[in-house]
Amino acid sequence: MRGLRRLSQASVAMVWGRVPCRLNSRGGQPPAPLGARILTNPEDVFQHNMWDHVKWSEEEKEKARQKADDNSSLRIPLEEQGKYDIDASKYWDSFYETHQDKFFKDRKWLFLEFPELLPLGLESSATEERPCGLRAPCPEPGVSGREKETGQQRQHAPSHQHIDPLISDCQQSCNQDGRDTAGAARQTSSFPGEHATFRIFEVGCGAGNSVYPIVSSIKDTGAFLYCCDFSPRAVQLVKDHPDYDQSVCHTFVQDVCDEVGSFPFPPLSLDVILLVFVLSSIHPERVQGVVTRLSQFLKPGGILLFRDYGRYDLSQLRFKKGRCLSENFYSRGDGTCVYFFTKDEVHSLFSNAGLEEIQNLEDRRLQVNRGKKVVMRRVWMQSKFKKPQPLAPPL
Ligand SMILES: C[S@@+](CC[C@H](N)C(=O)[O-])C[C@H]1O[C@@H](n2cnc3c(N)ncnc32)[C@H](O)[C@@H]1O
Repeated sequence: MRGLRRLSQASVAMVWGRVPCRLNSRGGQPPAPLGARILTNPEDVFQHNMWDHVKWSEEEKEKARQKADDNSSLRIPLEEQGKYDIDASKYWDSFYETHQDKFFKDRKWLFLEFPELLPLGLESSATEERPCGLRAPCPEPGVSGREKETGQQRQHAPSHQHIDPLISDCQQSCNQDGRDTAGAARQTSSFPGEHATFRIFEVGCGAGNSVYPIVSSIKDTGAFLYCCDFSPRAVQLVKDHPDYDQSVCHTFVQDVCDEVGSFPFPPLSLDVILLVFVLSSIHPERVQGVVTRLSQFLKPGGILLFRDYGRYDLSQLRFKKGRCLSENFYSRGDGTCVYFFTKDEVHSLFSNAGLEEIQNLEDRRLQVNRGKKVVMRRVWMQSKFKKPQPLAPPL
């Protein structure tokens, strides 16, 4: 339990009063629940395994900064760094060879935090018992607008107006007789999930811990899930799972850093892109390109959902010296890499790709090991960004 700090009552994080949901400074609306277990009395800390909405004191922030500075002071030599990027998929593939599907847990919070994953009409049932105590999803400025827009998009399925290098070979080769002009190809091309009324794409699906909850929720709804990972073993694990259902899901091997890589759906065809702990494993210099490329596949009104590691999360602070690749970017012992985001970085990343912020939060929690009487400060980012509708042409 190296790196974990024993709790002193004075250092117990102060919390957000008695408000069950985080308050948005602009509208006074609770933008997301992110858990509702609030520690108001430091003496109660060992009564639960997790406390939500934990605020850090200036002193705690400073200590975390120093710890990160310290473990970054000795970096992996530049000449050794290339392999972590070039061989990233091999490292992850070995990870899945070792751990199979036993490492990550199913993402049970998925529909509570991201009701947008469900086609219209299903969100309310999935979010009925929200931890914040509200029956309906916590109101979020902008979300209802998205829902309305996405609904409109669904009525007007994408018409694949042009052939794009981003469209997969599969789609283009589906033009059977090969004699056509580009125009004919447009009309005859097909792709998995073509007739779906709602399309979700999970990037870096790993062993499928988000895939199965989604697949079982979208059956018979007209929705379709695509998921990819650059580890062939991970993709195989997803396909081999008894809950895998190819009538609602298409899984494929793809490195999203590949600038000329192709996808089995056309641009402007997705309602939702889901990024759960995947961007953190990509080299920070590549991440903007990845997000910008992915955004091209969202429909106007479509939404990108992001959850990942936040700056000074426990897992950052417990890195030993010598594992740092560049600022806030580290390589683990097994060769997989991890970056720790700030709110501003997340905002820039998605805004630069032309998306509009709906939600961008730091989820700060106190994780408690009651047996060992230690507390761990966790920081995760949770964000939602929407693709705007195109501007109407001037009259
Ligand atoms: C931390 S795991 C998260 C897995 C899954 N999203 C989950 O939450 O359980 C990160 C995943 O991203 C995948 N990944 C990392 N970089 C990728 C890339 N460039 N293209 C596709 N997948 C990638 C890894 O293989 C790994 O399965």
